[in-house]
Amino acid sequence: MKLIKSIEEMQKLADLWRRDGKEIAFVPTMGYLHEGHLALMRTAKSEGDVLVVSIFVNPIQFGPKEDYARYPRDLERDLRLAESVEVDVVFVPEVKDMYPEGFQTTVDVAELSKPLCGKSRPGHFRGVATVVTKLFNIVKPHVAVFGEKDFQQLAVIKRMVKDLNMDLRIIGHPIVREPDGLAMSSRNVYLSKEERYVALRLSQSLAIAKNLVKQSILDGAEILKAVTSHLCQDNALRLDYAELRDPDTLDEVSVISKPTLLAIAAFVGNTRLIDNCILNPAEAYTA
Ligand code: PAJ
Repeated sequence: MKLIKSIEEMQKLADLWRRDGKEIAFVPTMGYLHEGHLALMRTAKSEGDVLVVSIFVNPIQFGPKEDYARYPRDLERDLRLAESVEVDVVFVPEVKDMYPEGFQTTVDVAELSKPLCGKSRPGHFRGVATVVTKLFNIVKPHVAVFGEKDFQQLAVIKRMVKDLNMDLRIIGHPIVREPDGLAMSSRNVYLSKEERYVALRLSQSLAIAKNLVKQSILDGAEILKAVTSHLCQDNALRLDYAELRDPDTLDEVSVISKPTLLAIAAFVGNTRLIDNCILNPAEAYTA
């Protein structure tokens, strides 16, 4: 496994691989790797001949009051984990090289960036779309894998690739969870023991919604009422949003008549957590 820090060196290697007819698979990350990231890497590995993983805590996708400075970082550990899934290259660029003085070009996926996380994190998806575009131009992948945990991010990236004719495939990977249901996240390390327990309410409320759909309760307001009353049973959790949306357009949905995204974001202490699932009316029991 090779560690590359230079943008130019990464681009040269990508050119060389492409000349040799190698399919380049890519998983962009912000590091502090967990089993969710590793699952994406295994999938990517099976989709290409060579696998590049980037580790870059991207300053421009964090708001001024967010956790950029304290975002967990441990490169040594990340390199060991990447090696364990046979990553070929770990690309770790530096902020000063990614955003040199005078940097001013950004990518904005206008509509899909507005609702859900876009509302409470203005500029976040512009930061994501911009860094992912840059990483694609540097790593030159044929295929890239993103997690459904960040469902809106995946939708934004798919739309961007389509709209800007980027010549690669985007693959979505299902959410990887802890045994008790908590969606894996680098931010879970922020949680105290008590908060970790409260955090389970996110995945629990998704299960509640799925159960209602199984019982043919398809009214959006009724489902959201059950979800929010479980989440907000006391003030140990502060809800940012719980919404039903079309999985492709992210338009609001009021009745579950086709597969619908249930997306949740909430603060437990100072930690912002997200989770989601697809509610499928085809799973309703027919008596
Ligand atoms: P990061 O949060 O490190 O996540 C990297 C990738 O791993 C994303 O595609 C994310 O959706 C996926 N992922 C994280 N936790 C997951 C889980 N429990 N199950 C499945 N997939 C999971 O997302 C980012 O970094 C950044 O925004 C990035 C795309 C790298 C741009 O900076």
